[in-house]
Parts: sequence; structure tokens; C-alpha cells
Amino acid sequence: MKKEILNTFYNIFGDKEGVRAFFSPGRVNLIGEHTDYNGGNVFPCALSFGTYGAISLREDKKIRMFSNNFKDLGIIEFDLEGIKYEKDHDWANYPKGVIDVLNKKGHKIDKGFDIVIDGNIPNGAGLSSSASLELLIAVMLDKLFDLNIDRVDLVKYSQEAENKFIGVNCGIMDQFAIGMGKDDSAILLDCNTLKYNYSKIDLKDEVLIIANTNKRRGLADSKYNERRSECETALEELKTKLDINALGEVSIEEFEENKELIKDDIRRKRAKHAVYENIRTLKAKEALEKNDLNTFGDLMNASHISLRDDYEVTGIELDTLVELAWEQEGTLGSRMTGAGFGGCTVSLVKRDCAEDFIKKVGEGYKEKIGYNADFYIANIGSGTREV
Ligand code: GLA
Repeated sequence: MKKEILNTFYNIFGDKEGVRAFFSPGRVNLIGEHTDYNGGNVFPCALSFGTYGAISLREDKKIRMFSNNFKDLGIIEFDLEGIKYEKDHDWANYPKGVIDVLNKKGHKIDKGFDIVIDGNIPNGAGLSSSASLELLIAVMLDKLFDLNIDRVDLVKYSQEAENKFIGVNCGIMDQFAIGMGKDDSAILLDCNTLKYNYSKIDLKDEVLIIANTNKRRGLADSKYNERRSECETALEELKTKLDINALGEVSIEEFEENKELIKDDIRRKRAKHAVYENIRTLKAKEALEKNDLNTFGDLMNASHISLRDDYEVTGIELDTLVELAWEQEGTLGSRMTGAGFGGCTVSLVKRDCAEDFIKKVGEGYKEKIGYNADFYIANIGSGTREV
């Protein structure tokens, strides 16, 4: 891929010396869904597929960008001074957001540059192609301008770009998994404190299968923000008695004793998910470390049920994929992953059943939903880097 991305660069911007190539992964979350913005735990990993980029500095203040994934949009050009969101600039608003945040934090980006991008993360699948692009740009600029910014700060800046420049109110999980990912490891991240540690994922007889519903995202962003605010209100209600800053600080016992403080059934269900999912995530990490994959799979299943019934972010496409997965021989666990309302599921499946799983779940899905799902075996890779 390095050769390909450099060749794309030369085709678009002409031959040059010193063009540098970078890679930034996608991510899959194993468990801990809709817990990040509730100050809870998440357990994601970086994938081996992602976004490639090549960059070369210019002597003037012009920035030119081209993406092989959006060829129709051609070369997008703008000036380093006065960077602003422009609808027509589409995908290039993500890099712009990162440049803007770096500028505002006082990092000196005083020259323009040319960039080409080419990614193989399935589009709109909820595997974080946008966070992958943000980290790619952040790491590229950090290296080219010798900024020496701490990696966790680059993660935070990328999230800030998404929140403030793009206007999507996401938590920190995606950027963290992508910026901090490690080969064959999942990251347990406490989103309240940003303390993290890695767990080795050493699957011998099992594989992780990602299945894409291929459902268009639709209402995802507005529903996402609605869930956030429901949880914020529930937190305020619990705070009338409990000394807490986040739902992630609440134990199951404490929740059960105090849940009547939450005055609305729906909000109580949302908060219940956040509290129980947070504890499930810790248990899942423990199970994985003991190589108790049956327990890990059971926790994945419980996570899906809670996201379906209490958090209500699944939908017929995700539920169909998961229910079909549960029926197959060799499935240890299956759940939706990411924001929900479409996107992907992740399943832990016995390696020698994987082929059958893909065939049968695929057929069942097509029959019920009317179009195909896509399947990928997830290989866990490391975080954003120069290649
Ligand atoms: C999206 C967001 C993340 C996280 C997940 C749900 O991927 O970008 O911050 O909230 O949804 O777990």
C-alpha cells in the first residue's frame, strides 16, 4: 500500500522528493458501547484496515488535498489562513478541523502542503473512517512540523476537531482506539480518567467477524445526541443524592438503590444500560485475560440485549445479524458495535465454523432484509504511524 499511495501522490501532484507516507487504522469496539461519553469503560481495538495518506510540504501557504475515495470531488484547495468549514469541501473538513485545532492550541503550522488519501474502511459502516482520517492528519502534521505532541493530546485534539469543527458530539473512544492501538491487543480505557491498559488478544481457535448491515445511517446523529442528553439528565437526577460526576462511577448496587430518583422510565432504562454496560466491560476484560471466551461471549450477548431493549439503538438490520449469529454453531458471542442504528456487528466465532457462519448469516440476512451484508475477518493492528 505504501507504494500505491506514493504513486497516487505522484499522479495527482507530480513527482517530488521526500514525500512521506502514513497509515491510520479503523477501529472495532469489543464491548463498552455508549459508555465513553458517560465516563465509563470501553474495550476497543484498532484494525488492520484503515486510511493511507501521503504528504509533502510546500513553500507557500496553500493546502491541496485529494482522496481516491472521493475522486469526483477532485483536488480540494484552500489557504492555511482563515480555515473554515465549507460544505462543498466534504471529507476535507475533517483535516481542516484538525489543522484548526492545532492552530488554536498554538502549534506552528506555517507552511502549506499537498496530501493524497486512500482508505479501505468500508464507508459509513461505523468503523470510524472519520476518526481514522483525523488521526492520520494529526500524526502527519506532528511529524512534518516537528511538533512533538504527546499522542494522547493528538487523540484529544482529533476529538475536539470532530466535536467543534464538524459538530458531531462523539466521545473519545474512536480517536483513542485509533491513535493508541497496539498489535493483537484491545485497550481498556476508563473514559472518566483516561487511564488505560492493554489486553493481549491471542485468538487461536476463534476469529472476530465483523458484519456490515450496509444500512444507510439516516437518523444516527440526532438519535446519538438524544441518548447523550437523556443520560445527562438522568445523571443530574442521581446527583441530587449521590456524590458522582458520571454514570460510569455508579455501581450496580448503587444504581438499583437509587434508580427511583430518575423520574422517567425511558431515562431510567438509558442510565441502566450505561451503568450495567460499564460493569460488563470490566468483567469482559477479566474474562479475556483468563482466556474464558465463553464468558466473554455471554457478556457480548448481554451487551447487545441491553443496547436493543434499554438503550434502543439497534434496529431490525443489526438485530437480524445478531440473532442469526446467535443461531450458528460455533458462535461464542455477537453484538452490535459502534453508535448503532445501522453500521456493524462483531461476533466471536470458532475458526473452523467461520466460513459456514458467513454463508448462513449472509443468506438469512438477505432473505429477511432484502439486500446483502458484508463480512470481514477482523485483524487487530496498531495505531496511526508513518509507514
Ligand atoms: C460512536 C462515537 C463514540 C461512541 C460510540 C458508542 O462511535 O463516535 O464516541 O460513543 O459511538 O459507543
